[in-house]
This record gives sequence, structure tokens and C-alpha cells, in this order.
Amino acid sequence: MTHADSTSPKLKRHPLRHVAVVGASGGIGQALLQHLAHEPSITTLWALSRTAPKSVPAQATHLPIDITQTSTIKTAAEQIKTHGPLDMVIVATGLLHQGPDLQPEKAIKDLEASNMAQAFAVNATGPALVGQHFLPLLSRDQRGVFACLSARVGSISDNQIGGWYAYRASKAALNMILKNFAIELRRTHKQAIVTGLQPGTVDTDLSKPFQSHVPDGKLLKPDVSAAALLETLDTLAPEDSGHLYDWQGQRFAP
Ligand SMILES: NC(=O)c1ccc[n+]([C@@H]2O[C@H](COP(=O)([O-])OP(=O)(O)OC[C@H]3O[C@@H](n4cnc5c(N)ncnc54)[C@H](OP(=O)(O)O)[C@@H]3O)[C@@H](O)[C@H]2O)c1
Repeated sequence: MTHADSTSPKLKRHPLRHVAVVGASGGIGQALLQHLAHEPSITTLWALSRTAPKSVPAQATHLPIDITQTSTIKTAAEQIKTHGPLDMVIVATGLLHQGPDLQPEKAIKDLEASNMAQAFAVNATGPALVGQHFLPLLSRDQRGVFACLSARVGSISDNQIGGWYAYRASKAALNMILKNFAIELRRTHKQAIVTGLQPGTVDTDLSKPFQSHVPDGKLLKPDVSAAALLETLDTLAPEDSGHLYDWQGQRFAP
């Protein structure tokens, strides 16, 4: 897959009109927002985040959301609903580390119940609740995409080196939730696509402490990852719903 410059449209097959990005303050979320702002077909762009994004494009409207607080998800969804159905929702929130006390576990002895609960709240339960309130906003009779940023380390079949218990397990749980969404939505939204995405190893706050392990040339700029993710989403069809894809458009096993 080739990636054009940041201002060229990425959604060539399926131009979208109404799009929401949840987690618009994150490294990848910001980059997604910037690309989407350059899509000529988009008329309504929602930027949802807990912390205000560093910059909100003129085309976008910012709404507050904390995905661990159901009331904020519900309020945002109710506000968006008044503007008509969404064509795409991208959930780019996630948690790997938070201060010295919440770091990915290297060994069994490092497991902490509160850290596991926090990882599950942000990486699995939060996106599930976003789905609960935002999936009903997808059109019933037109193509609609619900995509969550997952991680390849959440793949059970791909796990070779262990560690990172809470992050891996919470992303595996997210993948199961997305599969369930896909199955249930097939009954009412025949053209819906639900997917989990692996963005590559991307230069953001989330990956910063671990970047020394990344081979030369393998660390992606958020702009490059976001462009590739949008191009990947543009290629997906309803029969791809429930599956996981990486930034290069390759399906990978849960
Ligand atoms: N970077 C990578 O190499 C990499 C690799 C594989 C997968 N991923 C996945 O890609 C996604 C985006 O990661 P990133 O690299 O962009 O990380 P990031 O820069 O740390 O962004 C994380 C985002 O999640 C938001 N968030 C966390 N808890 C939240 C909550 N309770 N409510 C609302 N928002 C919350 C943050 O909001 P605040 O700004 O308010 O904190 C921020 O917008 C994550 O799911 C991550 O697991 C990343």
C-alpha cells in the first residue's frame, strides 16, 4: 500500500459525510483528526476527548468524553444523534502505562489488581460502552464503520514472549467485544463493519518508554499510521466485519 501526502483524501472508495473520533487528544487520534479534516466529503467531524486536543481543525467540533464515565458517553452520543446518522466512528483511546505505579508487567509477580482493573476499564469496557451508545448512531441501510484501535499484542495466537499482562488481556477482551458487536449488528445493520486495528508501532506518549526496543525504521510517525489506517478502513466491506486489520491492510488472527 502506498501512502499519499497528508492532505490528499484517504477515503477514495467510500467517501464519508459524518465521522466521530473518540480519543482525539492522543497521538494517533490527533493525526486521524487532521487527515479527516482534509477529506472533502466530510461535512460533520466530531472530535471527542477527555483532555482537549492540542489543535481542533476548523471543520471539527469538540465534545468532552471520558470513556470510563458512562454519562459522558451518553451525553456526547445524544448530542451527535441530533445531527443525523454517523458513517464512521473511530475509537483511538487506550492505556498502556500511567506514572510509576502503572507500568506493563514483566512477570507474574508484578500483577496488581487495581492496575488490571484500570487497563480493562480503558481498553475493553470503555470501547464497549462507546459501542453501546454509538453503534445505534450508524445508519441501518448504508455502509457504517465502527473501528477501535486494538493492538497486535492482544492477539493470543501471536503471543510469543509473554509479559504486559493487563494490556494484552484487555486488548484480547476488546477483540472479543468487537467480534460480538459484529455478530449482533449483522442482524440489524447489514452494511455495518466493526473492526479492531493495529496501528503499527507509532511514536506517541503510549510507546515512548519502549521505543528503544523498536528496530531502526520501524517506528511510524502518527501521521503515517493514521493515513494508512484510514486507507485500510476505506477498503473494508461488510463481510470483513468482526476481523482485525493492521495498518498495512493485512488481516491478523485474534
Ligand atoms: N502507539 C503505538 O505504538 C500503539 C501500538 C499498538 C496499539 N496502539 C493503540 O492505539 C491507540 C491510541 O494510542 P496512542 O499511541 O495514540 O496513545 P496516546 O497518545 O497515549 O493516546 C491515548 C488516548 O487515549 C485517551 N484516553 C485514555 N483514557 C481515557 C479515558 N478514560 N477517557 C477518554 N480518553 C481516554 C487519551 O486521552 P487524554 O489525552 O485525556 O489522556 C488519549 O487521547 C490505543 O488504543 C493504543 O493501545 C498504539
